[in-house]
Amino acid sequence: MRKIILGLGLMLMAQGAEARSVHTQSIWGGAYTEDQAARGATAYQQNCARCHGANLAGTFEIPPLVGRFVPYWSGSTLDVLVDYISRAMPLGRPGSLSPATNADITAFILKRNGFPAGQKELGMSADEQKTISFDATPNKKRVKAH
Ligand code: HEC
Repeated sequence: MRKIILGLGLMLMAQGAEARSVHTQSIWGGAYTEDQAARGATAYQQNCARCHGANLAGTFEIPPLVGRFVPYWSGSTLDVLVDYISRAMPLGRPGSLSPATNADITAFILKRNGFPAGQKELGMSADEQKTISFDATPNKKRVKAH
């Protein structure tokens, strides 16, 4: 009897994990659209390039938004990055850009880091952004399973 109850518990746990994975997607699945990244490129050049550079490489004092940027943010979800940008950037006048512009600029940064575009724009809501995991590399296991 105890074995049956234990087995049932494991089954329920496995189902729970499956249900959660449906609501989480990887950044490698396409977290933004090409149009959105193009809008973001314009907004980036107007608001961010002065410090982070037109090529996102940064300077000695200012962190790059490419290269080591990826392992730095890896392991979080996209809401963390967008939230940081919304609250702290552009330095000097933080919070001055609209949620839509911050999402567009994030799309542009993702594109410049080699993350693929998809069919759906990166949304403005943190709840939605929270469902997209920022992984430095594609999840090999998940790719294989398909
Ligand atoms: C006036 C200069 C300036 C401008 C303009 C600016 N930034 Fe920054 N940014 C900085 C500095 C300096 C830091 C490092 C802040 C710190 O370490 O606390 C930084 C940090 C960041 C980071 C964190 C990088 C990391 O990996 O640590 C992101 C992301 C970022 N900026 C995005 C943006 C975006 C997007 C814009 C335009 C909307 C922007 N910044 C505009 C100076 C600037």
